[in-house]
Amino acid sequence: MKIGIIVHSQTNNTYSVAQKIQESLKEAGNEVEVKRVSMVGGDRPEDKKKIQLENPPDISQYDVLIFGAPVHAFALAPAMQIYMEQLPSLKDKKIALFVTKKLRFEWTGGSRAIGQMKNLCQSKDGIIMGTGIVVWNKNRDEKITELVKYFAGLF
Ligand SMILES: Cc1cc2nc3c(=O)[nH]c(=O)nc-3n(C[C@H](O)[C@H](O)[C@H](O)COP(=O)(O)O)c2cc1C
Repeated sequence: MKIGIIVHSQTNNTYSVAQKIQESLKEAGNEVEVKRVSMVGGDRPEDKKKIQLENPPDISQYDVLIFGAPVHAFALAPAMQIYMEQLPSLKDKKIALFVTKKLRFEWTGGSRAIGQMKNLCQSKDGIIMGTGIVVWNKNRDEKITELVKYFAGLF
């Protein structure tokens, strides 16, 4: 299976999780690529209008997609939102979603960001297989291992 892991990551937390997912899915015999969503302009909520994507990753070649992003201001990081809004149809694509975040409380944006990603994918007929939230605290390695194992079992 050809799997694309598409991530936005400013300080590499999300990217490092993507690399671990890639490693595990490769070991299971898949062809897996990690692509970054980068932008010119700001990535703060107040900069949203200024954001322009730089070479947005093409998803057409992948059977399975994993989207990852940080939580910003209790919501999905704006660059990822803009990227996902401009995606073509996701019909027949199996999809997993994850976010990383710093604050441990439930109401600090993780579920909201996952909900935003889910809605964007479902509006384009994608099939959501699973989701995960990694809180970037001292227990994160355990959580990342759990997420990697969970995602490996989804496809
Ligand atoms: C502008 C900004 C806003 C953030 N807002 C939140 C937030 O609302 N809730 C939260 O839990 N973490 C928040 N964070 C922390 C990031 O989500 C967290 O550090 C994440 O793991 C960063 O991922 P990255 O290294 O892939 O960019 C914020 C970080 C930045 C830079």
